[in-house]
Amino acid sequence: MAHRWKNTLTHDDVTPRSAFLNRRQIMAGMAGMGLAAIAPKATAASDLTPTDLDVISQYNNFYEFGTGKEDPARNAHRLTTAPWTIKIDGMVDNPGDYDFADIMSKMTIEERIYRFRCVEAWSMVVPWNGFELKDLLDLAGVQSSAKYVAFETLYRPHEMIGQQAPFLDWPYVEGLRLDEATHPLTIMATGIYGKDIPKQNGAPLRLVVPWKYGFKSIKSIVRITLTDKEPPTSWNKAAASEYGFYSNVNPEVSHPRWSQASERPIGGGLFAKRIPTLMMNGYEEDVASLYEGMDLAKNF
Ligand code: MTE
Repeated sequence: MAHRWKNTLTHDDVTPRSAFLNRRQIMAGMAGMGLAAIAPKATAASDLTPTDLDVISQYNNFYEFGTGKEDPARNAHRLTTAPWTIKIDGMVDNPGDYDFADIMSKMTIEERIYRFRCVEAWSMVVPWNGFELKDLLDLAGVQSSAKYVAFETLYRPHEMIGQQAPFLDWPYVEGLRLDEATHPLTIMATGIYGKDIPKQNGAPLRLVVPWKYGFKSIKSIVRITLTDKEPPTSWNKAAASEYGFYSNVNPEVSHPRWSQASERPIGGGLFAKRIPTLMMNGYEEDVASLYEGMDLAKNF
């Protein structure tokens, strides 16, 4: 693993190692290495226990497949994900159409277990597999004039049946400042739990920016544009007073219609307790320096 951030864990950190070992391995381990080798690690990050895959893949926001939480799981099978091309253009040295399979052959895939906090005040913990966005941008060769990165989702209404209604101004678009995009916590996810990412979660590749509200993490990306202007973003276009460009998770800045101070973990059962929301979703130490001197209430 190239980087090891304080809040970035792999499965080994959150799952007692013994759970991975079958009985024979445990016996062999006991004989060969002594008990310490199989003792569960201290799980300081028990709040980072990954949410079950069936929850992660059946409770979704992907309006291209409908606005209900269960619509994406029901409708996303229509999406053709191979072949898949990502156009990278704008202020780059090597613009062009990049084949997804070709990109995958060049990237180092890591596991990143991240908190995922939706602006609607629910959350999950997702064991993503993917690569750092910076590595892809390096392939394209970002020019020094570039200040922002714009992203675009596929527009294909006969497969993405939610696009047949004008719920959002399709295609879905998002954007980051270049320093946010190249931060080591920012990844392109291509898998979950070690398997290809389910279509309803944004196959074959989607952005994951763990310190921002989930709507920044745009799915099924077909275009990445380097630009010197702040790019338009879908939810900001739909309701500018409710969804800003930055959208960093912030328990102190309420959404105009609800508090952001706490969140409901999905998958914990009907009576699961709400938990306090952490500043920048728990990644403050890693990313606060990106926003030094900025008024986070104004630049929400
Ligand atoms: N990307 C696209 N293209 N379309 C969407 O509707 N929804 C966003 C984000 N990315 C969305 C999207 C929102 S609001 C959230 S909370 C997350 O995806 C949900 O990701 P998940 O379904 O994998 O949990």
